[in-house]
Amino acid sequence: MAPKLRVGFIGVGRMGAVHASMIAEEPDVQIVAAADIDPARAEAFVQKWGGRAFTDHRAMLETTPLDAVYICTPTRAHADIGMDCLEHGVALYVEKPLDLDLRRARRFVEEAEACNALAMTGFHWRYTEAYRRAEEMLDGAAIALVNLRWYWTRPPIRWMWDRSEAGGQIVDQNIHLIDVGAALAGGVKTVYAAYNERQANHEPEFQNWDGYALTLHFGRGAVGVCAGTYALFPEIQLAPTADFAVRDCLVRITDKQVQRYTSAGIESWPNTEPLHRAINRAFIAAVRSGDRLRVHTTLRDGLMTTATVLAANRSAQTGKPIDVATFLEKEST
Ligand SMILES: NC(=O)c1ccc[n+]([C@@H]2O[C@H](COP(=O)([O-])OP(=O)(O)OC[C@H]3O[C@@H](n4cnc5c(N)ncnc54)[C@H](O)[C@@H]3O)[C@@H](O)[C@H]2O)c1
Repeated sequence: MAPKLRVGFIGVGRMGAVHASMIAEEPDVQIVAAADIDPARAEAFVQKWGGRAFTDHRAMLETTPLDAVYICTPTRAHADIGMDCLEHGVALYVEKPLDLDLRRARRFVEEAEACNALAMTGFHWRYTEAYRRAEEMLDGAAIALVNLRWYWTRPPIRWMWDRSEAGGQIVDQNIHLIDVGAALAGGVKTVYAAYNERQANHEPEFQNWDGYALTLHFGRGAVGVCAGTYALFPEIQLAPTADFAVRDCLVRITDKQVQRYTSAGIESWPNTEPLHRAINRAFIAAVRSGDRLRVHTTLRDGLMTTATVLAANRSAQTGKPIDVATFLEKEST
């Protein structure tokens, strides 16, 4: 029998636990180490999933032979930790966004490409059954309009209330919708954004925008909008949605299903698996086989989408539309 893949985690809060629960179902994977600056969290994680606990990821990398590492720390630490991991030749699953600093993010991506690392950005929507079916439905069709919407509440994790830590909702959450829109409509060329500041949320710790409105131009000619808010409540029954209008047909992707609206009626296909299952299966399969075609969301994709959402923040602050490629070039060199 082939030896098990040896996997380590860096940052074992909410998302670390989600990914561990997904890969624990894979027969040939062993979680052998976890690093978290909070020792109690690291210890609780290894008690549940196995392996050795560390409080410093460098100590973990230096002492533990690993095939793959999940980076699930708060966003600001992703690129620096990623570059530390590259020195040890491990495959990488990196949570989105790639970083809040585009210079660090670009350096990380270029170093990863230079050493031909197998690495994935955690845009899990793109591996779901709903997305894959939507991709087939939209294949080759000219998209007229993209409409992206995420109605949400104050984030459940407190550091995300502070936009200097998480970047605000477009950077932290709507990035998934923008990634889906960009993948299906040929990338985002320009973005123009308006946000409001603490319009509905007045808690002193809520240092953030709470209403977000973007206008987008996509590479293959579609125009689009993206709206978000942190003003609502967790039980809201309106799923995050990505709508694509083509001639005589609307394709609607949510986190639960894909629907096709035509003059003949509405057809629906639900996701039959948990949202993060397929991306983890693809990552593990890619590491196991070395087949990079299983990685649909490269670090380069992550860099472009991270640049798009940070450009949206800049547009909201300056009141000017922003060309994403120029913004990335200027902000990352
Ligand atoms: N893909 C998704 O569905 C999804 C959903 C939520 C969050 N995220 C992203 O995942 C990342 C983690 O979010 P979360 O909700 O798990 O946050 P979290 O606060 O629950 O977990 C982060 C963990 O990282 C630890 N940590 C902080 N700095 C560290 C460091 N330098 N080294 C090691 N550990 C460190 C913290 O102690 C904490 O345990 C964020 O970038 C977030 O944007 C992705």
